[in-house]
Amino acid sequence: MCGIVGYVGQRPSNLSTRPVDVALQGLARLEYRGYDSAGVAVLEDDGVRIAKKEGKLKNLRDALDGEEVSASAVAIGHTRWATHGAPTDGNAHPHLGGKDDELALVHNGIIENFAPLRAELESEGFVFRSETDSEVAAHLVAREMSLTGDLTTAMRAAVNQLEGAFTLLAVHRLSPDRVVAARRNSPLVVGLGEGENFLGSDVAAFVDNTREALEVGQDQIVTVTADDVVISDFSGTEITEQKRYTIEWDVAAAQKGGYDSFMAKEIHEQATAVADTLLGRIDSGALHLDEMSIDESVLRSVDKIVVVACGTAANAGSVAKYAIEHWCRIPTEVELAHEFRYRDPVVTEKTLVVAISQSGETMDTLMAMRHAQEQGAKVVAICNTHGSTIPREADAALYLHVGPEIAVASTKAYLGQITACYLLGLYLAQVRGNLFPDEIAALMEDLEQLPTHVQTVLDGAAEVEELARSMKDAASVLFLGRHVGYPTAMEGALKLKEIAYIHAEGFAAGELKHGPIALVEEGQPVFVIVPSPRGRDSLHSKVVSNIQEIRARGARTLVIAEDGDDDVLPYSDVVLRVPRTRTLFAPLLTIIPLQIFSCELATAKGLDVDQPRNLAKSVTVE
Ligand code: G6P
Repeated sequence: MCGIVGYVGQRPSNLSTRPVDVALQGLARLEYRGYDSAGVAVLEDDGVRIAKKEGKLKNLRDALDGEEVSASAVAIGHTRWATHGAPTDGNAHPHLGGKDDELALVHNGIIENFAPLRAELESEGFVFRSETDSEVAAHLVAREMSLTGDLTTAMRAAVNQLEGAFTLLAVHRLSPDRVVAARRNSPLVVGLGEGENFLGSDVAAFVDNTREALEVGQDQIVTVTADDVVISDFSGTEITEQKRYTIEWDVAAAQKGGYDSFMAKEIHEQATAVADTLLGRIDSGALHLDEMSIDESVLRSVDKIVVVACGTAANAGSVAKYAIEHWCRIPTEVELAHEFRYRDPVVTEKTLVVAISQSGETMDTLMAMRHAQEQGAKVVAICNTHGSTIPREADAALYLHVGPEIAVASTKAYLGQITACYLLGLYLAQVRGNLFPDEIAALMEDLEQLPTHVQTVLDGAAEVEELARSMKDAASVLFLGRHVGYPTAMEGALKLKEIAYIHAEGFAAGELKHGPIALVEEGQPVFVIVPSPRGRDSLHSKVVSNIQEIRARGARTLVIAEDGDDDVLPYSDVVLRVPRTRTLFAPLLTIIPLQIFSCELATAKGLDVDQPRNLAKSVTVE
C-alpha cells in the first residue's frame, strides 16, 4: 500500500542513470503496492523540484519525457494507493512543505491526528494544496527544520507529534546531500551500495542495484547520505546494532520473463515455489524447522491454534485448519485478522497464533498478532518477505522462499503458504508426538511429490485457457467445494473477482441446499472441486450428488477431479484433471486450474491482470 523509494548517490557520468531515474526504476518495481498516482522529487540548485501525476507510473514517465532534470545527488519517489483524498495530481506525493516550498516529503500510512495538526499549521500561515493527511507531515518537518536547521532533528520532532502509521521520506533544500526517513507501523528498508544508498518500502525498490540491505526497526529514523547510514530512535538514541542481510531474490525474479503478465509468470513458477518452500526442511524423512525458535515445551502446552490472515492468506489458513486438526488434534480456528481483535477473542498463554502474510506488512494481520502477544500468546509468522514487520515481531518465522510476488493477485505465495502450513502442522505433530515418525516420513515423502504434480497441472494450462477465453462474457461464476475443497472454492472465486471483475462466489458444497442453489439457473457456470474417491467417508459421492443437483437445474458444470475419477463424467460439461494425491494435499493442485482460468479470462477481457482496479498488494492501513 503506497510504495516509497529514496536514493542518494552520485553515479559516474558514463552511467546515464540520474537519481531521478533510479527513483523511477524503484517505483516501477513497487507499483504493485498502489497505482493511483506516482511522483518524484529531486533537489536542484535553486531548490526542491517535484513532478507528480494521477494514474499509473507511465503517466509520470510521459510527463517527464524530454524534461531536463538535474543530476543532483538526491531523489525520492512515491506510488500511491489513495486513502485521504481522491487520486488526483494534487493529492499525489511528494508534497511540498514549508512557506517557501523548501522541503518535499512522501508518506505511506495514515496520520490519524492530521485534522488538528492541519488547523494548527494553517493558523500559522502554512498553505495546504491537497486533501491528504500526508501534507501535514511535510509542513511539520519543514517547520521544525526552520527551528533547528537539522533535518534529522526536525524529522524527530515532527514524528513525535504524529499519531497513526507512517513511513516518511523527506528532502530539504538546505540539506542537499541526504534523505531522512522515519517509520512507525509501516515498512521501510535500506539498500547499501558503493558510494550510493537506497531506501524502499521493500527490497524490490533497489534489488536492481544492490543485494545488501539493512533492516529499520519500529519507531526509528534513518539519515541516508551517499556514504553513510545513521539510524536512531524517536528519542534520539543512535542504534549501533544494525541488522544487515543479503537479499536472495535476483533481478530476473522481478521481471516478466516472456510471460504476458507477472501473474501468468508466477502461476507457472509454482512447482518451484512448492519445492523451494520444502527445500532444506526435510532430511531422511524427518522434519527440520530450524527457525521454529519457540521452545518445544511451549509448543507441547498449546491447547488452541488461531490462524490470523487476510485475503488469499486467510484461504491458505483455512486449508491449514483441516491439516493441523487432523494431524495434531489441536482445535484450530481461522479468523480474518481485521475481525479478530475487535471481538475480544479468548487468547491465553496456551494459544498459538499463526499469522500468515505474503508481504509481512498487512496492518490488519500485524495488529491482530500484537493483540494476541499482549495476551501472552506466542506467534508463528508464515511470510515471504524478509525483513518485513510481521516475521520480525513474531516469536518464530517460517519463510516461504518463493521469491518476490509482483502481481497483486496472489498465486505462488498461496501455494507456498499452504506448504509452509503443512510443515508447521507436521512439525507440531512431531514435537507433540501425535504421529509416529514413520507416519510423518510417509507424509513428507508424498509432500515431496507435490512439485512434480503441480507441474503436471501447469502442463495442462492450454485446456483451461481455452475454457477461460470461451467464458469471457460470463456475468457470474459459482465455485463449490467441500472439506479442503471449500477453501479452494473461496480462493477460486476471490481470484476471479479480483482480476476479472466478475461476480463470483465460493460455497461449501453442503451449504448449497440451504440457499445458494437458488442462484442456479439455465447456463449458470459452476466450478465444482471434487474430493478424491479414496478420501474420507462418503464425501466424494456427496459432492457428485451436488453436481447432479445443480445440473438438473440447468447449471453448466465445470468439474475439477482427480485422474481416474470417472464417476463425475456423466454429470460434467467440462472435466479438468489433477494428479492423485492425499486428500489434505489436494489444495496445492486443485487451485491451479482456477488461477489459470482467472488470469486468462482477465487477459482475454483486455484487463490489467497485474494491477487490478482499486486493489493494492500490500495493505498497510487498517
Ligand atoms: C491484499 C492483497 C491480497 C492479499 C491480502 C493479504 O488484500 O490484494 O492479494 O491476499 O492483501 O496480503 P498478505 O501480504 O498479508 O498475504
